[in-house]
Amino acid sequence: MAPDASLRVVHEQLDGIFASFRELVLVGDGRRAAAVLAAFRALTSAHAADEEAALVPLLDGSARWPAELYLGQHVKLLAGIERLGDGLDELAPGRSGWRRGALAVLDRAGPVLHLAEHHHLAEEQDLFVIVAARAPHRLDELAARWHVERARHRGVLDEAAAALERGRP
Ligand SMILES: [Fe+2]
Ligand SMILES: [Fe+2]
Repeated sequence: MAPDASLRVVHEQLDGIFASFRELVLVGDGRRAAAVLAAFRALTSAHAADEEAALVPLLDGSARWPAELYLGQHVKLLAGIERLGDGLDELAPGRSGWRRGALAVLDRAGPVLHLAEHHHLAEEQDLFVIVAARAPHRLDELAARWHVERARHRGVLDEAAAALERGRP
């Protein structure tokens, strides 16, 4: 198994939570979308803070990209996520203009999705490779901490997943 497998799973799970958020917007469930977005923001922030504290300082001369790239992407990502909250409280099926409102949120979500994909790839291709060579235990430690953090949001995430599965708000 690749030494960074556990953190790749964290990235996949973050991607999955963001996909749930977009699905909830798509069906006009603004209330659950806001709750899932809050969990996504908290879990992205916790993951980024951990990486900045325990992984980024290990970057050395062999790194393809400087620390500033990761730090800058974290700031942009969190700011983009923050902006997705606008208009969610007006999103409910039956409410006038809700589809236009949903489209506006999804339009803002596109660049955030692309940035997250790009960012995860950069980490998996360089940052994690360097840490795997120097202090591989840190990768699993970070992943384990993230799963503890995720468990704190399990209620919201499981409830949203069940609602999406049922197919109605
Ligand atoms: Fe990151
Ligand atoms: Fe990451």
